[in-house]
Amino acid sequence: MSDAKNPSIPKTPRSAQAGDGITRRDFLNEITLGALGIAGLGSVAVTYQYFSPNVLFEPATTFRAGNPDLYPVHSVTFLQDQQVYIVRMPEGFYAVSAVCTHLGCVTQWKPDAEMIACPCHGSKFKSDGTKVEGPAPRPLPHFAISLTADGELLVDKLQNIKSEQVLKV
Ligand code: FES
Repeated sequence: MSDAKNPSIPKTPRSAQAGDGITRRDFLNEITLGALGIAGLGSVAVTYQYFSPNVLFEPATTFRAGNPDLYPVHSVTFLQDQQVYIVRMPEGFYAVSAVCTHLGCVTQWKPDAEMIACPCHGSKFKSDGTKVEGPAPRPLPHFAISLTADGELLVDKLQNIKSEQVLKV
C-alpha cells in the first residue's frame, strides 16, 4: 500500500508544514526573548536597589512626654514605645532609661517592691536608676528632660545627664 493511496499519512514531517502552529525556531526565539526579559528585569531591580539609600529608620531620640500634670508626685510611668521611665518626685522630674545596663533587656517597674527589675538576670534598680543588686555594671542612665515653650515635657535620649539633675516644675 503506497502513501498516495492513503490520505491520512502526510508526505512531509509535521514540523515542517507551513501554517501549522509554531516552529522550533520560533519556539527557541521566544524562550530566548523570555530569558533576556527576565534577566533585564533582574538587573533593573538590582540597579534600583543599589542606587536607593540604605537607611535605617529609628524612632526619634527626642520626644514629648505630655503635660507635667499627667504625672502625679511619687509616680514612675513607663513609656513603652520610648523605653523610658518618667519619674516624678517632690524634688522634680527625671527621665530614666528602661534598658538594663547589663545586656540590654527592657526592665519593668514593680510598684509593690518600688523597684525597677530586669527580667533577664535579676538586676534591680531604685526608681532613680541606682543599682541595688544583680549583674548590671552601672545604674540606669538619666536623659535630659526639659519643658517646651508650650509647657510639655521634652526628653532627649541622646543627652545623658547626672542623676542629681532634676527638672523642677
Ligand atoms: S540584662 Fe538585665 S540583668 Fe542581665
